[in-house]
Amino acid sequence: MAALKQEPHAVLPTATLDEAARQAFLNQTGKHVLNEITPGNKAVYDKHVLPAFQRAHGRAPADRHEIRKEMVRQPYYQMTSSFQRSIQEMMWNSVDESIERQLPSLIATAKKIANGKTKGSLKLQPGFEIPGYIKHNDHHATPGGYSADLMEDDVTAGALYDRGAFIYTQGLFGARMDGIGKAAAMMIRQTRPDLKPKKILEIGCTAGGSTTGLAMMFPDAELHAIDVGPALLRYAHARAESWGVPIHFHQMNAEAMTFADESFDLVCCLASLHETSRTATFNIFKEARRVLKSGGLFLCSELPPYKGVDAWTQFVRDWDTYNNNEPYWGTMHELELKEVAATAGFDTSKYFEGFGPGVAAANALTSAVEVDNKKFMGSTRGGGQAWYAGVSK
Ligand SMILES: C[S@@+](CC[C@H](N)C(=O)[O-])C[C@H]1O[C@@H](n2cnc3c(N)ncnc32)[C@H](O)[C@@H]1O
Repeated sequence: MAALKQEPHAVLPTATLDEAARQAFLNQTGKHVLNEITPGNKAVYDKHVLPAFQRAHGRAPADRHEIRKEMVRQPYYQMTSSFQRSIQEMMWNSVDESIERQLPSLIATAKKIANGKTKGSLKLQPGFEIPGYIKHNDHHATPGGYSADLMEDDVTAGALYDRGAFIYTQGLFGARMDGIGKAAAMMIRQTRPDLKPKKILEIGCTAGGSTTGLAMMFPDAELHAIDVGPALLRYAHARAESWGVPIHFHQMNAEAMTFADESFDLVCCLASLHETSRTATFNIFKEARRVLKSGGLFLCSELPPYKGVDAWTQFVRDWDTYNNNEPYWGTMHELELKEVAATAGFDTSKYFEGFGPGVAAANALTSAVEVDNKKFMGSTRGGGQAWYAGVSK
């Protein structure tokens, strides 16, 4: 079994023996269902669904939508989807119960850190309006989603993401959950070796995992990170401070940032665009361009787009859109980010997209963690490579 060793920090919820056993069970069951049971859907499709469709229409399904319409009627698909969804919900609940047990002390610790001598900072905005696409959705079935703020000084959403995503990804993001940030930094070094960022912004920092990765890879830069969820930001700040990592966290909507024009050498949006609406993606690109200095770089990482991928694989990857509270997942993976960049005013001759270092590469140091490269999150690319879109100003 993979060693589930997350690096401790002041606000990481610990698990009792029973809680840990339940979390490990759900981790392994989820892996088993995803890797050993769900792939059986291909045989159902090849042997039954495709021939029946061909008989009825005289052709194969044209796209993932036509495949989905047929597959949702298949008992095997219904069973595997139900398994995946139930395990996902049980996994979050298994983390939630350990957070609830420790919540008063987690809140007190985060508060004490925030009120003490800090290397970074935390700026929340009273009366802040959470965008509807975050407020009205529990992304990836996380109870309360990104924006839940259950009580004064709450940190639940951050703790849930930090611990839950570690279990869900089976440790793939690394012991500090910083693999996405480290991988992005490796990509930046490959594509813009001349760029020595002094001031960096991360859009959509959640619990600060990717931000601490960026901080580690660019130790001389001033790091700023924004998100909309207050309980995420309180947690992220306490977490970073407890490791002595200086990061300035701001509650801010990436569609309308309050930073001055040309403030940053590097703006990153890592694994976040698929959580926003289509309109928001256009606005975020515009804002990223505005706050970037001339010569700076805007880098996004995402799961790879659907273009050039066969209809069956698209259908498999699109599971989250319909079953995992990811309403913008399919839209995002069909968007041409080069066109979005052009609309935002970027010079598209400075645009690039494609595969680059992934979390597994970035976290080669976490050798204790088993990495299932082939089947991670429905992607055939796994953690070995990530997909990037970047544009220089
Ligand atoms: C999948 S998470 C990002 C994970 C994080 N970058 C990491 O690697 O640890 C997406 C985040 O984007 C944030 N987000 C979505 N829309 C936003 C917006 N308009 N402004 C700021 N943050 C936003 C969400 O609240 C969420 O925390």
